[in-house]
Amino acid sequence: MSPLFINFAYIVSGALFILGLKMLSSPATARRGNLLSAVGMFVAVVVTMMAQGLDYKWIILGMVIGTVVGVVAAIKVEMTSMPEMVALFNGFGGISSLLLAWAEYHQHPEMSGFIALVAFLSTFIGGVTFTGSMVAFGKLSGKITQKAVIFKGQHIINAAILAVALGAAALFCMNPASGFGYTLFIVIVLVALGFGVTSTIPIGGADMPVVISLLNSYSGLAACAAGFVISNTILIVAGALVGASGIILTKIMCKAMNRSLSNVLFSGFGTTTAAAGGGDGPQGEVRPATAEDVYYILEAADSVVFVPGYGLAVAQAQHVVKELGDLLEANDTEVSYAIHPVAGRMPGHMNVLLAEANVPYDQLVEMDDINPRMDTVDVCVVIGANDVVNPAALDDESSPIYGMPIIETHRANTVIVLKRSMNPGFAGIQNALFFAENARMYFGDAKASIQDLVAEFKGD
Ligand code: TAP
Repeated sequence: MSPLFINFAYIVSGALFILGLKMLSSPATARRGNLLSAVGMFVAVVVTMMAQGLDYKWIILGMVIGTVVGVVAAIKVEMTSMPEMVALFNGFGGISSLLLAWAEYHQHPEMSGFIALVAFLSTFIGGVTFTGSMVAFGKLSGKITQKAVIFKGQHIINAAILAVALGAAALFCMNPASGFGYTLFIVIVLVALGFGVTSTIPIGGADMPVVISLLNSYSGLAACAAGFVISNTILIVAGALVGASGIILTKIMCKAMNRSLSNVLFSGFGTTTAAAGGGDGPQGEVRPATAEDVYYILEAADSVVFVPGYGLAVAQAQHVVKELGDLLEANDTEVSYAIHPVAGRMPGHMNVLLAEANVPYDQLVEMDDINPRMDTVDVCVVIGANDVVNPAALDDESSPIYGMPIIETHRANTVIVLKRSMNPGFAGIQNALFFAENARMYFGDAKASIQDLVAEFKGD
C-alpha cells in the first residue's frame, strides 16, 4: 500500500476524530459525533493492518474477543456504572501502550535515545494508567474501600518511587541495548505499576470521576508516546487528542467543583466527606409537602424549571420526569431543565439521562443561562440534587463548597425539593435551601414521588 494513500487515510481519520470531538460538545450532535469518531478509528485500524502485512489470525482472534466483551459490557452496564466502565477502558488503553513499547524494545533493543525516551514514557504512563484505573474501578464498584487510604509518609514514598523511575529512565535512555538495559526496563514497568496504585489509593472514591478523567488523559499521552515508538502517525494524533481532551475535561470538572486538581489528588476528600456526616450546618424548620400540595403548586405555575441531580440517576426517574414535563406543557406551563456541569457523578450525567428519556434539547438550559432569570421562575423542582443548589456555596466562606457555582433555585418564587431524607449529598454538608421560607420538601424516592404527581395530574 502506497505511503501516500496511508497518510491520506490517516488524515481522513484524524479529521473524523476532531469533527467527532467537536460534535460531542452538544447533546443534539453527540451521538453522531461518537459514530463519526468510531468510523475514523475503523478507517485507521483497517489501513494500519493492511499496510503492515501482519499475521492476521491473532489480530482477528483478539478483535473477536474484544468485540464480544465490548458489546456485552455496553449492553449490560448501568448508566450509573459508566465511570467504572470508562476506568476499565482507560486501564486497558494504558496497558496496551506499555505492552506495545515493551514489544518494540524486545524486538529492537538498539534504539536511539529519543525512541528510548518515548518508550519509557509509553511504558511508565501506560503502567500508571493501568493500575491507577484498576484502583479507580475497584473504588467505584465498591470492590475495595471507597475511602481515601492515607498513611504516614505517603507523599515521600510517592516522591521516592518517582525518583527511582526517573533515575532508571535516565540510565535506560543512555544505553537501552546494554546488558543492564532489560533490567532497567523491568524496573520501570514495576515502578510504574506500583506508582499507579500508590498515587490513586489516597484519593476518595467520590473524587474518582475526576481522577478517571485525568487517567483518560494519561492513557492518551501513553498512546501518543507509543505512536512515536512505532512511528505511527495516527496513534500520535489520536493519543494527543485523548490526552488534551482528558485534561480539558479534568479542568472543567475541577472548576465546576471549585477545587484545584492538587486538592483532588492530595487532599483525601473522600475521608472528610464520610466524616462530615452532615450533622452540622443550617438548622430550622422544614416544610414537608404531600403529592397533592405539590400538584396544586405546579398546576398553578406559569413556569417550572426542573433541576436534576445525582438522586435522579439513583431513582432512574428520568422517564417519569419527562412525562410530568409533558403534562405541565399540556397545562400551558413553560417547562425547562436546568443542568449544572457537575450534577450527578460524571460529566454530562444529566444530559445523558434526559436524552435517554427524549427530553427535547431546546428545553435544556445551562446554569449560566438560567441564573440571570431565576427571579422570574415560578417553581423550581429540585430532583435529587443537593450540593449543586446549596446557597452556602455563595455566602458561607467556611463551607467546603464555598465558591462553587450553583443553580440559584433559592431565588425562584417557590422551590420544591425531592429527596428521601435530610441526608447530605456528595460534599457531606447540610443545605440551607431546605430550610428556606420559599422551599417545600417533598420526601420520598424521586421516581415514586413523581409517579404520584403524574397520577394527580391525570386525576387517577
Ligand atoms: P448530591 O449533592 O450528591 O446530592 C444527591 C442527593 O440525591 C442526595 O442528597 C440524596 O438525598 C438524593 N437522592 C439519592 N437517591 C435518591 C432517590 N432515589 N430519590 C430521591 N433523592 C435521592 O448531588 P448533586 O446535587 O447532583 O451534586 C453532585 C455532587 O457530586 C457535587 O458535589 C459534585 O461536585 C460532585 N461530583 C460530581 C462529579 C460530576 S462530573 N458530575 C464528579 C465527582 C463529584 P437523600 O439521601 O436524602 O435521598
